[in-house]
Amino acid sequence: MTTPRITVAGGIEMPSVGLGLYGIDDLDTQQIVEMALEIGYRHFDTASIYGNERGLGAGIASAPRSEVFVTTKLWFDDMGYDPALSAFEASRRRLDLDYIDLYLIHWPKTGQVAETWRAMETLLEQGLVRAIGVSNFQAEDLRDLGGSAHHAPAINQLELNPFCYRTQLPAVEATSEIGGQAVAYRPLAKGTKLEHPKLVEIADRLAIAPAQVMLRWALDHKFSLIVKSSNAARLAQNLAVNDFVLPLDDLATLDGLNEGLFTAKDPAVDG
Ligand SMILES: NC(=O)c1ccc[n+]([C@@H]2O[C@H](COP(=O)([O-])OP(=O)(O)OC[C@H]3O[C@@H](n4cnc5c(N)ncnc54)[C@H](OP(=O)(O)O)[C@@H]3O)[C@@H](O)[C@H]2O)c1
Repeated sequence: MTTPRITVAGGIEMPSVGLGLYGIDDLDTQQIVEMALEIGYRHFDTASIYGNERGLGAGIASAPRSEVFVTTKLWFDDMGYDPALSAFEASRRRLDLDYIDLYLIHWPKTGQVAETWRAMETLLEQGLVRAIGVSNFQAEDLRDLGGSAHHAPAINQLELNPFCYRTQLPAVEATSEIGGQAVAYRPLAKGTKLEHPKLVEIADRLAIAPAQVMLRWALDHKFSLIVKSSNAARLAQNLAVNDFVLPLDDLATLDGLNEGLFTAKDPAVDG
């Protein structure tokens, strides 16, 4: 199985489905990443706060570097120009990589975004990262950043699934206005909504799994996505979403399921 790539700002190609590593112990990460590589995953999403950059680095060590796409994120406590450069270097060493494909500011922090973004731009200009972006930035955060940025964020990684989509729409639209790509994290709402009757009805009719309905929903909205599983069968199921699209009526039904459901609310409690 392969994952189609999409081109983001700066001409960088990014696999549209990535494996999220939130909540996976560093000691288990290498084996899960190796299993995912075998299945066909080529995009891996971690963060310094997840504590498993070493495991990810070990897991991809035998893969040709140009074939894997690695995202990691700068944590809230490391905002500011010098702290961001130091935190990046620590992540790069833990991952044991010469460069990182995508580096994100994990959460906005009032008063410290402009200086931090300047550090991200330095890393981009030095060739230590191929693309820079943000995560959890709402429309006003993107507007604030826009005033001082030389490079617009290539990516805004947002919690996106049918149950919070309409609430996140202003952030999605603001991302697209600056030429950025919205990336859906937590596309399965952490697995909490897979028994929703509408989801089950669509899945049964299309003879696919409810999880595949949610993932295809994100891709049909032109988001790329980061989904987590540590189980071989579910890893394979989550990658097998590229040879069909959802009927437009079903897409509209799913859009209507918004509950404003955010499971990630606050950097102090959720990565
Ligand atoms: N930027 C941010 O602030 C931020 C915040 C949160 C998350 N993220 C990123 O987004 C990634 C994904 O989010 P997430 O891990 O929170 O949640 P998620 O991907 O929406 O859901 C993962 C949950 O769904 C289960 N699952 C996976 N595939 C399934 C399938 N086919 N059928 C049934 N259940 C399935 C998993 O269990 P099993 O493992 O047992 O399969 C796990 O419990 C994270 O790992 C992280 O990389 C980013």
